[in-house]
Amino acid sequence: MKVHIVIGTRPQYVKLAALRDKLAQEFELTVIDTGQHYHRQLSLALLEDLKLPPPDINLKVGSGGHGEITGRILIGLEKLWIKSRPDLVVVVGDTNSCLGGALAAAKIGIPVAHVEAGLRSFEKNLPEEINRVLTDHISELLFITETSAKKNLLREGIRPDQIHFVGNIMIDTLFQHLVAAKKRRPWQRFMLAPGEYGIVTLHRPENVDAADKLTSLIGSIYQVAGSLPLIFPVHPRTKANLQKIASKWPEMKIIDPFGYLDFIGLLARAKLVLTDSGGIQEESSVLGIPCVTLRRRTERPVTVEKGTNILAGTTDRGIAGAVTQALGQPRSTRPIPRWDGRAADRIVKILVKWSKV
Ligand code: UD1
Repeated sequence: MKVHIVIGTRPQYVKLAALRDKLAQEFELTVIDTGQHYHRQLSLALLEDLKLPPPDINLKVGSGGHGEITGRILIGLEKLWIKSRPDLVVVVGDTNSCLGGALAAAKIGIPVAHVEAGLRSFEKNLPEEINRVLTDHISELLFITETSAKKNLLREGIRPDQIHFVGNIMIDTLFQHLVAAKKRRPWQRFMLAPGEYGIVTLHRPENVDAADKLTSLIGSIYQVAGSLPLIFPVHPRTKANLQKIASKWPEMKIIDPFGYLDFIGLLARAKLVLTDSGGIQEESSVLGIPCVTLRRRTERPVTVEKGTNILAGTTDRGIAGAVTQALGQPRSTRPIPRWDGRAADRIVKILVKWSKV
């Protein structure tokens, strides 16, 4: 069976690391990079850290509006798949690369498997939520990370036999690289000691695209962080706006994004993390690091119920309350079902069975 997997952004490289070899052992695998993320730090540097070979095909779609990026992905993939038709297309997560891959395949009748299906934040105006809902509804196989996803999918009329609770491949990658990551000492670069710093990451359009929103968010973070030094690896989306306002906080350490191992090494020894990333809510929960999520909702409720995640929203009051809570009594976390490093094995097993029907 010919399987094509479509990736294109930083978190998708991380997730590919769990799946690639296992898929390649069973199927004739082609890895397609859309090129949505082209910064070395967000793409090639990650491949090296994760010991992944370069993708087989790169569509080089680059930047643009959401429609433009998705449109270029559709055109590129349709041309490719009309010539060399795979038996199955695998897409991962909630990005434009994920929706573009799923839509291009579905339009020409190629079955789609969606990894990380069924998550919902119920914010229909956000690009990731639109991508999640649409991708799920044109996919044949839906691999879910947590049980909330099953409820969401059933409510939306997806057949139960399409849904497979396999766990979380981002956590598979985390477990595979944790020993190597913990050998890194990324805090030394900032003359800091383990446990004596916080991390901030921000990249969601609703938080970073408007300079006044970003200013108020960072102002709130600094007000409540007190003397805790904050390390802020900056995503390209955030950089331009941040540079305009950064002089207000001379203590802020604005730096380029870390590689995967350095970032996990840094996260594993942080006092807390403030973020709007989906993946970091998951990784911090598994590592037991308090996570303050700078959003009103999360599509990953298991990280709040069982992990270390506290939803802060983006107001002064919300962030202050969440940080106090996070720095107070350490929360006792409970293991998250099937986040055990074996999600990719489960996915491949199900695909092998599916290929024989
Ligand atoms: C995308 C995903 C988001 C995911 C995130 C991980 C969508 C809708 N969003 O957001 O779900 O959490 O990736 O990082 O797919 N840019 C560069 N260099 C790059 C990549 C982007 O400069 O290598 C700039 C682009 O000019 C663009 C901006 O950053 O204007 C945003 O990039 P884009 O790929 O549109 O979305 P992300 O914000 O990265």
